[in-house]
Amino acid sequence: MNIAIIGTGRMGKGLIKTFYQYYPQKVSFSGRKKEQTQSVVQELQLDLAAKSIEEALQADVIIPTLWFTDLLPWAEKYRDLLKGKIVLDIVNPFNDNFDDFTTPYGTSAAEELQKAIPESTVVGAFKNTYWVVFDKPILQGIKSDVYVTSDNEFVRKQIIDLLRPLPFRVLDAGLLKNNRTIERMTLLSGELARKAGSHPRISYNLWGLEHEGL
Ligand SMILES: NC(=O)c1ccc[n+]([C@@H]2O[C@H](COP(=O)([O-])OP(=O)(O)OC[C@H]3O[C@@H](n4cnc5c(N)ncnc54)[C@H](OP(=O)(O)O)[C@@H]3O)[C@@H](O)[C@H]2O)c1
Repeated sequence: MNIAIIGTGRMGKGLIKTFYQYYPQKVSFSGRKKEQTQSVVQELQLDLAAKSIEEALQADVIIPTLWFTDLLPWAEKYRDLLKGKIVLDIVNPFNDNFDDFTTPYGTSAAEELQKAIPESTVVGAFKNTYWVVFDKPILQGIKSDVYVTSDNEFVRKQIIDLLRPLPFRVLDAGLLKNNRTIERMTLLSGELARKAGSHPRISYNLWGLEHEGL
């Protein structure tokens, strides 16, 4: 599958660096300004040509790395081009102070995105992966967990297979509604890391799942 990473911010950079290592021929990178995207490509020393958003949306798997307030308007704008695509959602719906969420407890960013683009298949992943973790996802031999969710089981498994070569522990985390918990786990890990002085280098590895391979 071809993968398009949209947005040249912290998560966009972390994801493109990681996917480029494992899928150099399959991945593309784009932002709102092609020239600025190309300068980020050069900064990261990747052998890629920046694509426009419209070109990028030809891919099979689209990864928008936007803030939640920008995500839904963006998805609505490109709804037609996103039809039939897998949209991999990494977003946590933070408030301006980053100490709570703007979504109520009964939903999640992933579910709201799925509602906005019902003809696309939303898959949640990397919600708990702080941007610096992409540079070194294994700490003292322990991999960082990536919880993969989707209401479409076939697509969820396709994405798990796609992510499997990456240096993370990739887990089938069930339906999109589990993002009500998974997204809030990022709030908790952020608070714990700040107290411990290790923010933002923090991630989960759920103890007791050794069969998934550490
Ligand atoms: N930071 C983390 O550690 C982390 C961890 C897990 C999940 N997330 C989630 O990842 C998302 C991005 O976080 P980040 O830290 O990478 O943020 P960031 O560095 O600020 O990057 C956000 C990107 O969104 C794009 N953007 C901004 N306004 C836009 C608009 N109106 N329309 C379209 N695109 C717009 C920009 O890309 P261009 O200028 O290139 O177009 C920008 O680079 C957030 O939703 C966050 O919850 C972050």
